[in-house]
Amino acid sequence: MKSEIIITAQGHKGTLERLQNEFSAVKLWEAPDRDAALQKAAHIRGLAHFGHARVDGNLMDALPKLEIISNFGVGVDQIDLEAAKQRKIIVTNTPDVLNDCVADTAIALVLNTLRKFPQCEAYLRAGSWLKGPYPLCTSLGGKVLGVLGLGRIGEAIAKRAQAFGMTIRYHNRTKKNVPYPYDPDPVTLAKNSDVVVVVTPGGAGTANLINAAVLDALGPEGYLVNVARGSVVDEPVLLKYLQENKIAGVGLDVFADEPRVPEAFFKLDNTVLFPHVASATVETRKAMGDLQVENLHLHFAGKPVKTRVV
Ligand code: NAP
Ligand code: 8YV
Repeated sequence: MKSEIIITAQGHKGTLERLQNEFSAVKLWEAPDRDAALQKAAHIRGLAHFGHARVDGNLMDALPKLEIISNFGVGVDQIDLEAAKQRKIIVTNTPDVLNDCVADTAIALVLNTLRKFPQCEAYLRAGSWLKGPYPLCTSLGGKVLGVLGLGRIGEAIAKRAQAFGMTIRYHNRTKKNVPYPYDPDPVTLAKNSDVVVVVTPGGAGTANLINAAVLDALGPEGYLVNVARGSVVDEPVLLKYLQENKIAGVGLDVFADEPRVPEAFFKLDNTVLFPHVASATVETRKAMGDLQVENLHLHFAGKPVKTRVV
């Protein structure tokens, strides 16, 4: 008999197909009456989560037999981990399988932000090349890349940036045994860097870590790239600093209120904006889904899950 699970949202197509084939699955997002659907699912032990909607204590209480929340994604800031811990619910994520794609995207944002390639292309398409060459921009080689959050993805970004001739420094709460200089706080990191790449987790612990003091330290020649979560950056302050050219430019894959992006960002020439695509390749999304499904199977087989968060 297939184990029963509840799926919260419409996610990656191939993974949804697997979940529906390999489990007896309730599709919560399709339920005309969510509360009634949850009541009917009160015996269910497993939940597969997609996207960034909150999984809070109320949802956990509506599913009193819940034993495992298997998340599609490494970031679990949308899940109330404390509430899960209190209820002895296991939470799993999908680390490592996405490191390369997310690091590639971070480097693409660094390249596009310093070299302004999207703006160069728009210039050509607008016929402006006929009036003269595109203005010079900034090299990567010889610049200092400060990684805020040198974890699994941060290390993959550092490796790639070195191949572009950049030198690396970093700040985490805990100093690591790595060959890069450590800065004791985000302001010092920004002061010592030409480009700061943010790749910490989201959530309360990192909210507005990039604030006016950090942007002041980065300065008018400094660049910011964020592939972490929108919540890590004080977005209204960032916008103001970009409008007033108090930093040189920004590359963003994530925003505070996705998929809504403040239109003011679109009007600026010093922004490169991606719609949260850092892990969005066929290969990586399949690997993430396979890990999400594997964790559910392992749990229902009475085995330890592969990638447990709490
Ligand atoms: P990880 O291995 O846990 O690395 C996170 C790093 O951040 C750790 O080195 C951690 O070190 C540091 N950190 C945590 N809190 C901090 C704080 N308050 N101040 C400074 N550093 C802090 O995680 P990962 O697998 O690399 O993923 C990182 C995050 O990237 C995810 O949580 C997710 O939000 C984001 N992400 C985004 C995308 C996307 O599509 N844009 C894709 C994947 C992941 P300490 O604990 O020592 O501080
Ligand atoms: C995904 C991510 O876009 O893994 C993460 O933390 O942010 C991304 O890989 C997201 O989780 C899919 O909803």
